Amino acid sequence: MPDNDGAQVPFTAMSQTMTHTYRDLFAGLDREVPLLGGGRRRYVNLDNAATTPPFRAVVERVDSAVAWYSSVHRGTGFKSQLSTHAFAQARQRVAAFVGADPEYHTVVFCANATDAINRLCNRFCLGPGELFLTTVVEHHSNLLPWRFRGQVDYVKAKWPCGMIDLEHLEAKLREHGGRVRLVAVSGASNVTGLVPPLAQIARLCHAHGALLMVDASQLIAHRGIAMGRAGDPERIDFMAFSGHKIYAPYGSGALVGPRDEFAQGRPGLVGGGAVDLVTLDDVAWTAVPEKEEAGTPNLLGICALARSMEVLGGIGMAVVQEHEQALTLRLFDRLRKIHGIRIFGGCEMVNITQRLGVVPIQSERFDHALLAAALGYEWGIGVRHGCFCAHPYITHLLGITKADLDHYMAEVRAGRPRLLPGFVRLSLGLYNTADEIDYLAEALTALHRDGPRATYLFDAANEAYHPQGFAYDFDAWLRP
Ligand SMILES: Cc1ncc(COP(=O)(O)O)c(C=O)c1O
Repeated sequence: MPDNDGAQVPFTAMSQTMTHTYRDLFAGLDREVPLLGGGRRRYVNLDNAATTPPFRAVVERVDSAVAWYSSVHRGTGFKSQLSTHAFAQARQRVAAFVGADPEYHTVVFCANATDAINRLCNRFCLGPGELFLTTVVEHHSNLLPWRFRGQVDYVKAKWPCGMIDLEHLEAKLREHGGRVRLVAVSGASNVTGLVPPLAQIARLCHAHGALLMVDASQLIAHRGIAMGRAGDPERIDFMAFSGHKIYAPYGSGALVGPRDEFAQGRPGLVGGGAVDLVTLDDVAWTAVPEKEEAGTPNLLGICALARSMEVLGGIGMAVVQEHEQALTLRLFDRLRKIHGIRIFGGCEMVNITQRLGVVPIQSERFDHALLAAALGYEWGIGVRHGCFCAHPYITHLLGITKADLDHYMAEVRAGRPRLLPGFVRLSLGLYNTADEIDYLAEALTALHRDGPRATYLFDAANEAYHPQGFAYDFDAWLRP
């Protein structure tokens, strides 16, 4: 694992115009996919909120790390010591990227954001009357773990814009009078792309004695983040995110949090590597952060994550933000001109600086599953549709009644899954281009004018449509 990481990324602070693209930095963007009716075209991926392709530099980092791969921590050979060094270096790089305070925060490597949030939850033992506060905006991964750990109360979102309601947050913090141990909020919504004012949220939380946990799964690849210093009322105490949403899809993620919090009590995950001594009736936990990292770490994934952050740091997150905002504005502009497409109303109410390039749309002509299928099969465009693991938020945004929800629940429990109301979500990454947005607009326009080119059959179990008499030959595509 030669340490080529110090090499300067050769594209610092490039001037941003809509003509500039970052495509050369990514692996796999040239792949052509088959189209219904014959032919192929270069894949257009507008599903970056789900997962992202790797930077080439990340692939190269992993390739070079593979040759030197070995155990970390207690190995005595050269490769082990090199691996241990790379592991420690990655931790520093991740901490620096999120603006952590080395005196206050530490980085715990995890598998992904879901793993990180569950581990954090597992650490908390609530006292009598204590509770967690989260919001209706959250992804299920930042909702369910808290709910199964203790009492939870929820902060509303404003309607119709969908932004977390800060007045309601404050009212809830007051109502619970210092008994809220932790407030868990997403740094950006995976449904609407809205970015709440984290500094203001942090001030409110800390004024009421609560810790703040930010689920940065969506935010991490698109905005500069500064977790802040110990004692700063605007600091973020804990943060969780996944590598696969920041151009490092190798199975790693991180939980960043106060070292002192982790030093107390039992770790969120127990097992080998987290201890100094074990007897049959006692255990001495090792020092933080290793205390929180039971099991063999995913060294390659961790190197990938750190390398990706270096690449983004080299570009500069302000430059990333500016570039993606320009793309997002173009997307809004093109969508507005398409007859039959409705951008979710709330999106239009929020300033571009308060949002990411995540745009939920609906069609007046097709349900969300059919529209997504036609874009994929006929145009080679990858999007996501449905509720995006955020059922309470979608329910809120679409104004679905309690009676309807009870009905859906009964149907699901009876083994009769139905297509729930939802959106088609368009989500941009750094490498998407103006041409791709225009191509999407062309596809949506043609679909609404001419209809799909095939008859699509609904597969209820997977909530997806497939064209009648057509199937991809995936085995042929996977053959080496
Ligand atoms: C806001 C948010 N939180 C959490 C997650 C869960 O991430 P992962 O599946 O990588 O654990 C996602 C994934 O889409 C997300 O968008």
